[in-house]
Amino acid sequence: MKLIVTTKEDAAKQAAELYRALLRQKQNAVLGFATGSTPLALYTELIRAYQKGEISFQHAVSFNLDEYAGLDENHPQSYRAFMNKNLFSRIDIPMEHTHVPNGKDTSAEQMDAYEAMIRAAGGIDLQLLGIGQNGHIGFNEPGTPFDSTTHVVRLSQSTRNANARFFSSIDEVPKEAVSMGIKTVMNARAILLFAQGASKAKVVAAAVNGPVAEKVPASILQLHPDVTLYLDPEAAKYL
Ligand code: F6R
Repeated sequence: MKLIVTTKEDAAKQAAELYRALLRQKQNAVLGFATGSTPLALYTELIRAYQKGEISFQHAVSFNLDEYAGLDENHPQSYRAFMNKNLFSRIDIPMEHTHVPNGKDTSAEQMDAYEAMIRAAGGIDLQLLGIGQNGHIGFNEPGTPFDSTTHVVRLSQSTRNANARFFSSIDEVPKEAVSMGIKTVMNARAILLFAQGASKAKVVAAAVNGPVAEKVPASILQLHPDVTLYLDPEAAKYL
């Protein structure tokens, strides 16, 4: 694992450079995106680079990690709506090249179809991750098997509490989600994980220095050959 401790703004700039280099070298790169607060600074940088003519996503393809079950893609808190608003509508990626799991269809066929689409696109070149306070990556909560592929997950109470800030009340936070599995994430050729703030410090230390164990889903990343962690000093304080 490569660890880079820097400010959130600098991390976003450095990571945007990696996207620029990747898309120069491979215009039709397959990008794995994440939602939540953490990627927003990077998305702002990618939008800025696009506006300056430094980067183009015209031939890129994207797959998002997860989506709330039961939310229509037009629901303002759906991850599809989040991506459209914070990135896709502001860069030149064709909407039909963007994929977010379908929260309205949680059938086994739909889970397999998401995996099949990733495979058909040639696999993910660069997967972006945040980390939950409980160590989740995507919505793979503690205890998720390391060999899991796209599946329906029951969200833990801590995850629902953490995400309640986006909804008008905790009761509105969905109880389930569709998420790429741990194996899906591990199949990506390269992975970038961002973590910021003291609330992530303990779990970052467990993921980086603790045993590789399903109770800390992110610990599996120790076994991936190309992972870069961008941490701010607060998130890195127990390393
Ligand atoms: C989001 C996702 C989650 C978040 C994590 C951190 O698509 O899969 O794993 O990355 O919950 O969320 P933030 O960035 O809001 O702290």
